[in-house]
Amino acid sequence: MSELQHEIGRRRTFAIISHPDAGKTTLTEKFLLYGGAINTAGSVKGKANAKHAVSDWMEIEKERGISVTSSVLQFEYNDYCINILDTPGHEDFSEDTYRTLMAADCAVMVIDASKGVEAQTIKLFKVCVMRHIPIFTFINKMDREAKDTFELLDDIEKVLGIETCPMNWPIGCGKEFKGVYEREFKEILRFEAVSTGGAKEAKETIISVDNPEAKSIIGEDFYENLLEEIELLDGASHPLEMDKVHQGDLSPVFFGSALTNFGVEPFLEHFLKMTNAPLPRLSKGEPVEPAENDFSAFVFKIQANMNKNHRDRIAFMRICSGKFEANMEVKHVQQGKKMRLSQPQQIMAQERKIVEDAYAGDIIGIFDPGVFSIGDTVCMPKDDFEFEGIPTFAPEHFARVVQIDSMKRKQFVKGIDQIAQEGAIQIFQEHEVGYAEIIVGVVGTLQFDVLKYRLENEYNCEIRLEPLPYQAIRWIKDTTTDMSKLRGVSEVKKVKDLKGNPLLLFKNEWGIQFVLDRNEGLELIEFSR
Ligand code: G4P
Repeated sequence: MSELQHEIGRRRTFAIISHPDAGKTTLTEKFLLYGGAINTAGSVKGKANAKHAVSDWMEIEKERGISVTSSVLQFEYNDYCINILDTPGHEDFSEDTYRTLMAADCAVMVIDASKGVEAQTIKLFKVCVMRHIPIFTFINKMDREAKDTFELLDDIEKVLGIETCPMNWPIGCGKEFKGVYEREFKEILRFEAVSTGGAKEAKETIISVDNPEAKSIIGEDFYENLLEEIELLDGASHPLEMDKVHQGDLSPVFFGSALTNFGVEPFLEHFLKMTNAPLPRLSKGEPVEPAENDFSAFVFKIQANMNKNHRDRIAFMRICSGKFEANMEVKHVQQGKKMRLSQPQQIMAQERKIVEDAYAGDIIGIFDPGVFSIGDTVCMPKDDFEFEGIPTFAPEHFARVVQIDSMKRKQFVKGIDQIAQEGAIQIFQEHEVGYAEIIVGVVGTLQFDVLKYRLENEYNCEIRLEPLPYQAIRWIKDTTTDMSKLRGVSEVKKVKDLKGNPLLLFKNEWGIQFVLDRNEGLELIEFSR
């Protein structure tokens, strides 16, 4: 096996998704602890005395103590090289969250056992489904009161429309949490709470379910109940079919408690075995093999002002094939230009560092003088790849942007264009009026504040945002549709995006159906390529 094959083969790149507070940060932190990348819990997310997270890059984030942007963490565990794409955990998240999923090969979904599937999870999940990437579920906080286990699984199946296969099974919960039953080995992994919220592990004892001592260890009632549940489970649950897992049709489910480290390492180990090394990505419909092709990558995220002193922009790229070497000459396909990738960076647990080399599956951040757009491909000059674009996701909040000082039109247009190019906001124009009225659409309302803050601080341009009463947007599939002929649109706003594609803004979801019912043959889409 060549070095390239070996390096790529040991890579696992996944996104971690959850509803805020389900325990994503805690779980990520425990992964890093196991991998030896950090020594103390609490260092991923800036809490109390702990350091600020790597991704807290803007004042606004610091002010609110939340993380707006997603970050990438790399660490080694056993022989694996793991890339975790973290997604913002705040309710006001942005399109970046969705795009991050484009760069991942699979997703870990963290669910709070007392809450089940929550709204944010559903949205993110839709993107995973669209990409058919494997989804692994970690049902967290079993040390607290939890919903009924069967109900939790039912919830995932019904709400998310995916089959589930529990890999382990919880015994009790909350104060009565006894541990989990490992289905594969028919063993009980006993949980003993330790009074720590930190790095120390909960004690674990492993005992076969058939061992006569098992009953006394977990208690007779729990034991009897477990046997009943196992029987029910073995008869009723979906078998673990790896093909389905890889297609994203069946999610292996694990129960545990990230805070007490319980079930984290078994989860990580199962997960690593069940996931693939980076798979080929499509370029113009043809697969680009990670280990057989030379370096290629695509841009999935652009982040401005990582370093306040330099006002720089970093383009985050997912490497799709081959090996990256610092300062190599590549082709930026969309602009048809050769360029050197300078200042490549990678975020290793806590620090950003300059990378000398990286492989398919890895994420690198490249200094961007303003040439990259989301979805761009870079490859070797001899190659002619063009990876499939990243969809534009439907924003859900809209506002009219009013410029306060009209003398600063130039800065305003430049600023708003650049911020849109980074993909933090989407800009729409009135269908007929043109650039005079600008409407911005965002996925999470926090992006409005980000826009206002950045226009004022970076472009010296004050604006006022007037919220618009629209909640849903749809692209018109046939871009040649004559908008003036549409029926039932008195409550609908007709706009176009930066590329000139026609769109409709609706006051509610119900309005979408209303328009569809009145315009035969009209096709509306939620994502735009
Ligand atoms: P997030 O990134 O998904 O938003 O969640 P995060 O890990 O920050 O966890 C949210 C809260 O839930 C934290 O408490 C965390 O300690 C707690 N938590 C995470 N995993 C578990 C678990 O397995 N069991 C229990 N009981 N709690 C868990 P917090 O009060 O917000 O913060 P902290 O001050 O306690 O750290």
